[in-house]
Amino acid sequence: MSSNVKTSTADRVVEIEIHRPEKKNALTGEMYEAMSAAFDRADEDPAVHVIFLHGQADCFTAGNDLADFLSAGRGEGVASPAAGFLAAIRTARKPVVAAVGGVAVGIGTTMLLHFDLVYAAPHSRFQMPFVPLGLAPEGGSSLLLPMLAGYQRAAELLLLGRPFGAEKAMAAGLVNEVIPAERLLAHAREAALAVAALPVESVRITKELLRRPHARALEERMAEELRLFGERLHSPEAKAAMGAFFERKKG
Ligand code: COA
Repeated sequence: MSSNVKTSTADRVVEIEIHRPEKKNALTGEMYEAMSAAFDRADEDPAVHVIFLHGQADCFTAGNDLADFLSAGRGEGVASPAAGFLAAIRTARKPVVAAVGGVAVGIGTTMLLHFDLVYAAPHSRFQMPFVPLGLAPEGGSSLLLPMLAGYQRAAELLLLGRPFGAEKAMAAGLVNEVIPAERLLAHAREAALAVAALPVESVRITKELLRRPHARALEERMAEELRLFGERLHSPEAKAAMGAFFERKKG
């Protein structure tokens, strides 16, 4: 279990906290593995009804650790811990509630497309900078985002890859409600508890029915995205863009 991922269970809710604040909660392989394991355990445990995922009130996650991307071996994309986490959230049978405060970059935004209830603080900042980084969309975003937000909005967010705020995320359908930062975690936790108290079999059936129409297409698209992403990781464009991030930090 990673020390940067904290889990606890109470009142039929598994709470998973991403906790690496000194690196803006950037996700390492170990952290993905810890989160995947928590999702798998929740899925198997009949005493767990809901998963609640969050960072801190001022930071969700800056996405994949860019240093890990830079050192990734060839072909790693498809079998990586990140791919395992994406599979875990794609197949999660129990509802997932998320609270987003601060930055939600890359997979920090795309994972939300798989969740059931998403609450965000007014200052939260979303971004899918795959194209500026010389990469390719991941997390099923090339399929789910146009379905959710409409083609032009999805194209803007994925092609330009610029940061956007909570209101825009809500308009795109990524966020259910914008909640003041000081109440964000409590509000999202309350929602998780409310779902956890509902008839569990009705909840399960409803989530399954909601997901079913696109389940096969999503699985195929995510596999294709992973393959392309893995190829792009080794492109000169990606190496230059990610190298520039760390150079900027030194300068
Ligand atoms: N991978 C590795 N380290 C990261 C990181 C990432 N994705 N995001 C942030 N960090 C590190 C920074 O290098 C810095 O470390 P240092 O203090 O040792 O130099 C620390 O976290 C704080 O980040 P900083 O950039 O100073 O914070 P900020 O508030 O100015 O900016 C972000 C926050 C998230 C906007 C900015 O860090 C960023 O753009 N990160 C990269 C996001 C990204 O491209 N993710 C991958 C998407 S596919």
